[in-house]
Amino acid sequence: MTRDVRDELSAVSESAGGTLDPADWADTRALGHRMLDDMFDYLQDIRQRPAWQPIPAEVRGEFRAALPSGPTDMATVYGEFTRLILPFSSGNVHPAFMGWVQGGGSVTGMLAEMLAGGLNANLGGRDHIPIEVERQVAEWTRQMFGFPEGAAGLFVTGSSMANFMAVLIARTAALGPAVRLTGVTFPCKRLVAYTSRAAHGCIAKAMDMSGLGSGMLRSISTDEMHRIRISELRRAITADRDAGLTPFLLVGTAGTVDIGAIDDLDELSDLAAEEGMWFHVDGACAGLGVLAPDLAPRLRGVERADSIAFDFHKWAQVQYDAGFLLVRDGKRQLETFAAPAAYLRRESRGMSAGSPWPCDYGPDLSRGFRALKTWFTLKVYGTAQLGAVMSRTCELAQYLKRRVEQTPELELAAPVQLNIVCFRYRSANSDVVNAEIVTRLQESGVAVPSTTLLEGQLAIRAAIVNHRTQRCDLDALLAAVVKSGNAIVV
Ligand SMILES: Cc1ncc(COP(=O)(O)O)c(C=O)c1O
Repeated sequence: MTRDVRDELSAVSESAGGTLDPADWADTRALGHRMLDDMFDYLQDIRQRPAWQPIPAEVRGEFRAALPSGPTDMATVYGEFTRLILPFSSGNVHPAFMGWVQGGGSVTGMLAEMLAGGLNANLGGRDHIPIEVERQVAEWTRQMFGFPEGAAGLFVTGSSMANFMAVLIARTAALGPAVRLTGVTFPCKRLVAYTSRAAHGCIAKAMDMSGLGSGMLRSISTDEMHRIRISELRRAITADRDAGLTPFLLVGTAGTVDIGAIDDLDELSDLAAEEGMWFHVDGACAGLGVLAPDLAPRLRGVERADSIAFDFHKWAQVQYDAGFLLVRDGKRQLETFAAPAAYLRRESRGMSAGSPWPCDYGPDLSRGFRALKTWFTLKVYGTAQLGAVMSRTCELAQYLKRRVEQTPELELAAPVQLNIVCFRYRSANSDVVNAEIVTRLQESGVAVPSTTLLEGQLAIRAAIVNHRTQRCDLDALLAAVVKSGNAIVV
C-alpha cells in the first residue's frame, strides 16, 4: 500500500470514527435520495429505453479494473453505475422483454429491497421478527396451495435450488435418514426418478448433484400438448421394477419452460400414490397460477403433491431472487437438512429461542431477507391483483397467437396454452433465418424474444411474464420479426 493511500485511509477512518458509516450523513442522505429518484425515473420512463443493448467493448473493459485498495467517493461510484451499469442491464424490467421466463419486478419490491438492505438481517436462524415474516409468507403459501398444517416452506434462490432440495428430501424419504451418513452408494436400492422430456434441465442436474446420477432420471415422452405421456410413464416404471430398480420420485411440471405446458397433476398424483413414490411439482413457471381463478383449475392435483418448487420472482413479479420450496410434511425436510452444532445451540428464551430455524430446513446458514419483498408484494397488491396479472399475460399470449395466425409470413410452432408463444418466420432456411431474426431484434432494442428447439427445429419464443407488457409491445415484436425476416431473405 502506498503512503498516499495509507494517509487517505487513516483520514477517512478518523473522520468516520473508524467505522464504515458516512463521515457526512447529510451528503450521503442527499445522494441516497437522488439514487431513489433516479430509479423512479428509470422505471417510470422504461418504455423510452431500448429493451436491451449490446455492451460496448470500452464499457466491458471498465470491469477489468484493478482491485481498489483506497476509497472512492460514493457519488463518483454512483456516476459509474449510471454510466456503465444502468444502461446495460438484462432488460427484464422492460415491457418488451419476452426472451425468457423472467418477472419484471415492481416498485414495491424495489423499495422493500432497500428496507431489507438497511436491516441487513440474517435469516439463517435465531429469534427475530424477520424470521416471523418468512414464516408468515410460508403459511400464506401453504394456504395458496391447500397444503395441510405441518407443511414447511423456505425461501431459496430459485426453483433450480428448490428442485434440488426436493430430490434430496425424496431420497431421504426413500432410503431413510441414515443415508445422510452412509451416502447414496451404500444402500442396496438403486433409486430411479421420472419426469417428462419437456422438464427443465435443473431436474437432471439435481439428480447429478445429489449423487443419484442424471442417468437415473427417465425422461418420458410427451403428447401433442407437451404433457407427460402417462401410459409410457407406467411402462417405464414397470420395466425399472422388473430390472430390480426402485422408483422413488415423480416430477410433474406446472408450466414447461419451452411452451408452458401443464402435466396432468391429478393423474400423476394418483400414480405416485399407487407406486409409493414421492410426488414433486416443478411449478417454477406456473405454480403460482393457483392465485388466478381462471388458471387454478388447470393446476388441479398440485394440492396433493409432496413438495412444490416455485418462484415469486417470475409470475408474481417479486424482485430477484425469491424462489420457494413448499413441503407437505415439514418433518421430512427437517430429517433431510437439520444438523445440530454447538455454535447453533437452541434455548427456550433469548435470541437462541424459536427452534426450528430456517437453517434446519435447507442447506444455507446465512440467508438474506427475501421474505420482506415478497411480504410487501403480497400485501400491497393482494393475491387477486397478482392473479389478474397472470391471467392477463395469458390473454396477451392468445392475442399474439391470433396475430401470428393472421400474418402470412409467420407460423405457430406449438400450441399456446399459457403465456408462452413459439412461432417461426416461414423460410426454406428456417433455423438460420429465425436465429438471425432474434439476434437482430435483441440488438435493435425493440424487443427481446429468445429461441428454443421444438422437435429439433428452432422457434422464436415469446414468454409474456412481465406485468408491463401490452398489446402494442406484441404488435411491435411481430412487425420487427417480419421486417427482419424480409430483409434477411431478400
Ligand atoms: C420449469 C422450470 N423449472 C425450473 C426453472 C429454474 O428456475 P430458477 O431460474 O428460478 O432457478 C425454470 C426457469 O425458468 C423453469 O422454467
